[in-house]
Amino acid sequence: MKKFYVSTAIIYVNALPHVGHAYELIATDTIARYKRMTGYDVFFLTGTDENSLNAERKARSLGLPTQEYVDSMVDTIKETWHKLNISYDEFIRTTEERHKRACQEFFTRAYNKGDVYPGTYEGWYCVSCEAFYRPEELVDECCPVHRKKPEWLTEKNYFFALSRYQDRLLQHIEAHPEFIQPETRRNEVLSFIRSGLQDFSISRSSMRWGIPVPIDPSQVLYVWFDALINYVSGIDWLTAPAKFQRYWPADIHIVGKDITRFHCIYWPAMLMAADLPLPRQVFGHGFVYLKGERMSKSLGTGVDPGAVVDEFGADSLRYYLLREVPFGRDGDFTWEGFVQRHNSDLANDLGNLLNRTVSMVNRYFGGSVPAPDSAEPRPALDAELIAQIEATFATVETSMNSLAFSDALVAIWEFVSRANKYVEESAPWVLAKTDRQRLATALYNLVEALRLIAYAVYPFIPGTAEKMADQLGITLDIGKDWHDTHVWGGYKPGTAVISKPVPLFPKKELTD
Ligand code: MSP
Repeated sequence: MKKFYVSTAIIYVNALPHVGHAYELIATDTIARYKRMTGYDVFFLTGTDENSLNAERKARSLGLPTQEYVDSMVDTIKETWHKLNISYDEFIRTTEERHKRACQEFFTRAYNKGDVYPGTYEGWYCVSCEAFYRPEELVDECCPVHRKKPEWLTEKNYFFALSRYQDRLLQHIEAHPEFIQPETRRNEVLSFIRSGLQDFSISRSSMRWGIPVPIDPSQVLYVWFDALINYVSGIDWLTAPAKFQRYWPADIHIVGKDITRFHCIYWPAMLMAADLPLPRQVFGHGFVYLKGERMSKSLGTGVDPGAVVDEFGADSLRYYLLREVPFGRDGDFTWEGFVQRHNSDLANDLGNLLNRTVSMVNRYFGGSVPAPDSAEPRPALDAELIAQIEATFATVETSMNSLAFSDALVAIWEFVSRANKYVEESAPWVLAKTDRQRLATALYNLVEALRLIAYAVYPFIPGTAEKMADQLGITLDIGKDWHDTHVWGGYKPGTAVISKPVPLFPKKELTD
């Protein structure tokens, strides 16, 4: 079985996740689920970035020991991801022992190569970004992302000789167009490298919280040097070499556009210094904005994904974000748009199709799905329905290969509309009086269309796919290659559907 290793960025623990963070997890979960369905041995890694100044300060402001504070945040973050049905295989915390060891080994390897040297750093530091800024990058003397005045830091640090890797990095990126996606991010990174790379500080002398520098325990590792290493410590680089051999290099790192540079420049250079292979791809997705504002914990402009799930269910949020924000581009979260998609695409189009079909199987056939008429050629109406679902799966496949979730969902919903139209065109309520055999075929076709829709939507809205299967009286065989499961005619006649269909998405009104 081919392997597929996919990761998200690991999030900071100084505040709870907002919908922007959830977006990244949802998108990555969709990839992981799709890959599992298409025959891959998937490893999906996520986790938390805990050795940061922002976490230490937050704990101090609450009067809590830092470890106690980060532990409690991790519990809440995991709870949010569970609510959203995020099927990660492993959750790495940067306070874990295996991670500390991996970081120290990275440092030592780079040091032994002559890539680490002591020096003095002076510069503007934004604690929310955990990054230094050059004066020309500041906007009105403030951090361009958090709009807060950065702090002036002067420290004796250890530096990583990034400049030594400039040529190798350029060669790699130029020779592997797929390494940085989408194209806009690739161009940004290329021009940044061409403007000249500067060595960067990889330790802090003023902080106690963090991973000690092996050759100088008076310093801790800079949080970004530490955090990037999660991608290897999370698959047990030093603790389970066979597992590491199996999954490394990562097939894709999913990260936000603000941190693409760390992943496309620092991280590959660090891997080169440690003599490890580079990941196959870094995908820098866009941002989700709220009323035109970047969602931000420190700006206080965020939507709590846990609260949205409690009110609407995980799949409404998953569907909305995947459908509304073309992956790689920015998008807006609006309550109006969200409720609209929930009511029209989910409750009406998909929910009603299931509801009507199951009700009619109960009404006309006592709840047992009838066998279709197998005579050839099929009526044109049926042949068209079948051809469209086949074309839909083909579109889903091409779209998913380029992570175009939105295109895949558009194609699936075109089929959902086609199936709704099929109900009107075949008019089972008329057939019930005139042609029972045709009625049986029409209802079988609708049930089979719904079975296939359940498979098609599973990577995006897995909870709904399971509920659909339940009401259709089947279980989804997710472990089986979907090329086998999506063949028309897989539904077994005689199967009993649920006797009273349950609405998949209760309709909602927009309230203040
Ligand atoms: N801890 C670092 C990542 C280290 S990875 C080795 C970090 N954490 S974060 O909590 O600030 O962000 C986590 C992820 O969420 C990042 O990929 C970031 O780009 C993404 N997003 C943060 N806000 C977002 C939006 N408003 N919209 C979409 N993604 C957003 O950066």
